[in-house]
Order: sequence, then C-alpha cells, then structure tokens
Amino acid sequence: MHLHLKLFLLICVQISTLSAEKSKQPNIVIIIADDVGWNDFGLHGSNQIPTPNIDALGYNGVILDKFYTQQTCTPSRSSLLTAKYPIRLGLQGFPIWAGENRALPLDTPVMPELLKDLGYSTHLVGKWHLGAACNQNTPTMRGFDTHFGYLNGLTGYFRYTTSVPDPRNPSLNLTGFDLRDGFEPQWALKGQYATELFNKKSLEVIDKHDTDKPLFLMVAHLAGHAGENGTELGVPDQARTDKLYNYIASPERRQYADLINLMDQSVGDVVAKLSQKRMLDNSIILFFSDNGAPTTGKFGNYGSGWPFRGLKATLFEGGVRGTGVIYSPLLIQKNYVNRQLIHISDILPTLYRAAGGNLDKLGNIDGVDQWDTISTNSAGTRSEMLINIDEKLGYSGILDGEGRFKLLNGTYSIGNSFYGEDGRGLDNPSYDYESVIKSNVNAAIQSLGNSVHLEEAIIDDLRTTITLDDCKTKDQETSIKCDKMCLFDLWSDPCEVENLINESTLTDVIDDLKAKLDKFVEALVPQKNRAIDPRSDPVNFNGTWSPWLKCDVTG
Ligand SMILES: *[C@@H]1O[C@H](CO)[C@@H](O)[C@H](O)[C@H]1NC(C)=O
Ligand SMILES: *[C@@H]1O[C@H](CO)[C@@H](O)[C@H](O)[C@H]1NC(C)=O
Ligand SMILES: *[C@@H]1O[C@H](CO)[C@@H](O)[C@H](O)[C@H]1NC(C)=O
Ligand SMILES: *[C@@H]1O[C@H](CO)[C@@H](O)[C@H](O)[C@H]1NC(C)=O
Ligand SMILES: *[C@@H]1O[C@H](CO)[C@@H](O)[C@H](O)[C@H]1NC(C)=O
Repeated sequence: MHLHLKLFLLICVQISTLSAEKSKQPNIVIIIADDVGWNDFGLHGSNQIPTPNIDALGYNGVILDKFYTQQTCTPSRSSLLTAKYPIRLGLQGFPIWAGENRALPLDTPVMPELLKDLGYSTHLVGKWHLGAACNQNTPTMRGFDTHFGYLNGLTGYFRYTTSVPDPRNPSLNLTGFDLRDGFEPQWALKGQYATELFNKKSLEVIDKHDTDKPLFLMVAHLAGHAGENGTELGVPDQARTDKLYNYIASPERRQYADLINLMDQSVGDVVAKLSQKRMLDNSIILFFSDNGAPTTGKFGNYGSGWPFRGLKATLFEGGVRGTGVIYSPLLIQKNYVNRQLIHISDILPTLYRAAGGNLDKLGNIDGVDQWDTISTNSAGTRSEMLINIDEKLGYSGILDGEGRFKLLNGTYSIGNSFYGEDGRGLDNPSYDYESVIKSNVNAAIQSLGNSVHLEEAIIDDLRTTITLDDCKTKDQETSIKCDKMCLFDLWSDPCEVENLINESTLTDVIDDLKAKLDKFVEALVPQKNRAIDPRSDPVNFNGTWSPWLKCDVTG
C-alpha cells in the first residue's frame, strides 16, 4: 500500500517535471483597454473609478510610468503586433473605417504568427481593427488560432452593430452586425453584454487550453470605447450604475465608470482562471490602454486624461502616454514603478525573447527588447522614440531616449487643451485599499506564495510615487499650437504648459531632435487611406460586416 503510494507519487512527480519542461515557455496574456484615460485607473491617484484588479496587477508587478502608445487605435495595434512604427506600414493616420480597404501589410510578420512559430497556441478575444477587406486580412488568417469578437474599430455593447456615416461621403451610412467566432456571425449572442461575453470567452480559452503548449491570449476589450455609432456607453443595469456611482455628477461619466469597473472585474477573472489552471506561475500578464481618452466630441466617452494636456489623437501626453502594468513571477524585481522610456512597439521583442525567440528573426523593427529593463529595473535601451508623423494632417513628434525632451511639429486640429475629471475631490469615496488586497488578482498572485505581501503601506507608497499631482500651474489652460514647433521638458513639465522652443540653452537638444525627426520623415511610407467601399455594405452580407473583396494572397 505504502509502496504503491510512493510509486504513484514518484510517477506524478515525473509527469509534472516532464510537463514543466515541455511548457517552459511562459504563457503570455495581453489585455487591452480601448480609449481609457490616464486618470481612469485608481493607481494613478483618482478615487472615482474602482479598478482594484488592475491596480493589484501593477502593485504586485511593475507599473510602467513612461509607457507610450500611438495616438489612436489602428496605429497602436499595428505597432503592437509588428514592433514597427506605423509610419513603416502607412498606418500612421486615421484609424481604419469599417468598409475601408486598408490593412496590416500581408508581408509583415505579426506577433501571433511569430509566437505560433515558437509553438504557442494563439487566441484573440475582442477587437481587431487592423483591416478586414478580404479574408486574408482577418485575425485567424494572421496567426490567431481562434478569434471571437469584432473586426472593426468599435461595435455595440449589446446589439453589436457598427454604423459608419462616412464624413467624406455622408450619403453612405452603412450599418451592420459585427460579432463573430472566426468567420461565423454570432447572431444568437445578440443582447449579451460585451465585457461579460468577452470575459466568458477568455475564460473558456484558458479552460480549454492544453497546458503542454504555451498560451498566447490577447483580450482586446470594447470598454471604454463609445459603442455603436460612437454615442453608446453601454452598461448592463442602468439603475445599478446610477446607484453605485451616485457621487459622479455626469450621467455619462457614471456609465463610463461602471463599464471600466466591469472590465477591471474581467481582469480579475482572467488572472484567477490562470491560477486555477496552475498556469499563473509561468505567465506574463500585460495590461494597457491603447491610447488616451476622447473625453468629448465625436466618440467622446467621458474618460479622463487629467492632469495631462490633450485628448486621443493628439501627440500630447494625454493622447499617447499610456497606462501600462505588467506582472509575472518571472520578473526578478517587482513591486516598483519603472521610469524607463518604453514604447508599444517594444512589447513584441520583449515578449518574443521571453518566449525563447531569437530577436534576429524579427528583422528590421523599431521596437527594442525591454525585458531586462523591466525585470531588473535597469536603464532603458532607447536612443529616441518617434511619437508619430501624420504627413496628411501635418503633425508629428519625437522624444529623446530619456523621455525628457519632446519636440512637436504641428498639432492635431482639436483636443489640445485640458479635459477630464481629477477624481480627487471630497465628493469621491476614499481609495479602497481593502478592495485591492481582496481583489481576485491579488488573491491569485499571493497564492503563488513567493510574492511580497501587499499591504496598505506598500500600496500607498507605490501610489504616491506614481501619482502626478504637481504639474505646473495651469493658468495657461488653453489650446496650444505647435506650428512653429514646441519643445517640452517632461521631467519638469509633464503637463506641457511651457513651450521651450526659443530657449537658447536648448539649441543642441532641439537640433538633434529635429534631425532625428527629419530622418523618420524621409523613411515614411505614405498613408493609403481610402473612402468607404460601397460594396462592403452589410446589406450585401445578410446584415453583417464581412470581408467583401478577394485579395491576392501575396498582398
Ligand atoms: C445611420 O443608420 C442608422 C441605422 O439605420 C441610424 O440609426 C442612424 O441614425 C443613421 N445615421 C445617419 C447620420 O443618418
Ligand atoms: C446614434 O445612435 C443613437 C442611438 O441609437 C441615436 O439617437 C443617434 O441619433 C445616432 N447618431 C448618429 C450620428 O447616427
Ligand atoms: C519664439 O520666437 C518666435 C520668433 O521670435 C516667436 O514668433 C514665437 O512666438 C516664440 N515662441 C515662444 C513659445 O516663445
Ligand atoms: C515640420 O512640419 C513642416 C510642415 O509639415 C515640415 O515642412 C517640416 O519639414 C517639419 N520639420 C521637421 C523637422 O520634421
Ligand atoms: C441572416 O441573419 C439573420 C439575423 O438577422 C440570422 O438569423 C440568419 O441565420 C442569417 N442567415 C444566414 C444564412 O446566415
């Protein structure tokens, strides 16, 4: 009996060693929020929207303080998946409209393809927004084993309809259903709340995952993008929303708060599921927002980029400085705020190396491997960071390698002032440390046993370190134009109030940044934005948004 038990245990140990060897490559989970502002996460100092799970992920892992994205969805997501600046792909301008024939170039390898080649099982839940004119453009033809979600830039939180009145062709007003599993429209799921549905599907992916293989799961939430035609801030229970967030005056901001909190709960569920499946001890989890909030205007979602200047689509900090947190037990240093300059294009080389890939395979990319930077809190490896060049609208920007001096050449037409709520007034509840400590994310991470015990003092210390409360006085709280260029010192002026372009002591800095920007201008692939193709009309496809063209497979 005892002998049998011993033998049995021995076999178990051998099996588990074996499977541990097989799955040495880390599981990679990327969770992306859409259009969510810097100040919409508790860890940045606002008390308005509870995000205990995302906060706990950051406090237990590494909070990336100088994590930059692109200014809008398509540019950001293209850079994420290719490790290139969007100017290399011609995707630097306006995001892809539903019905527009434009996509990630077919000859550029993308993250899911590259990870699949390393043996990963690859899954996308939620948004794609990288082109869908022909089948070859869509996620399951670009390296994802499965895709459950939508192809366009947005959809409805319940009805999953997307309408695109094209401003360049107002007579075209196309509306269609956009929720699919691979190529199959999911009519039967109409009415289910998007965040809950995407959460359920993400948990299913993890549940079904064969742990002999490493997992790559990308969850690209609809929250907090405005849905449908850009006016819907969908919540599952309006009365509950109004009660929970009664301290927020604006009814739309209340809805937004709820839909962000529900997304935060999904982050908790996903991490808890990884823990249940015993995958968490060998996982890397990265959460970030794809660009700043469009607080007001078309697609306005009432998000907040306070205290930064600028909305989504601008190159001010409010448009491009992203909220980013990463957790992995594989990180050597955790529980700290990383101040190194990190760009969204760095994610692919960073994760690819962690996955055991050879960086030479990635060819000519703009992203740099930041694994050591993050894991050991060592110096970053960037000599500069192109923010973007929009050659059609005439605005561009670049940062030096320390993330200190920022040169802007021109500005986007709107959204260049200060917006959004500070969330710090006495009318808001106080920060709920207990909910962070009791969150699903914290419980799962603490159950691994080798983590620093998260307590109020640690949280408070980290949160104080990261919070920006001391921007220069904002008596110049007006729009700013950089048509004769702007230079900001982000170390002393993160809110971009004081334009130093005429500062004689900074001539060298300015000339250096101008020269670097010019080099990027020369290398730029022009935008190929097209009008919406009337043949894409969902009416031709039983009411669904569907690939409408036959592409040449070679692109
Ligand atoms: C476009 O069509 C949708 C659905 O038919 C309708 O709800 C919406 O009001 C229309 N928008 C415009 C600008 O005509
Ligand atoms: C958007 O949809 C809402 C609700 O369905 C409707 O009231 C509004 O008129 C629509 N706006 C446009 C510009 O289509
Ligand atoms: C910089 O100098 C130019 C030329 O004298 C002037 O037109 C511009 O207003 C100045 N800009 C700032 C921000 O001081
Ligand atoms: C700044 O923008 C102007 C107008 O678009 C352009 O002519 C100029 O070359 C740009 N300068 C740099 C350094 O990119
Ligand atoms: C067409 O769309 C309807 C929903 O409007 C759906 O019930 C039906 O199954 C679809 N037909 C086909 C052939 O996909």
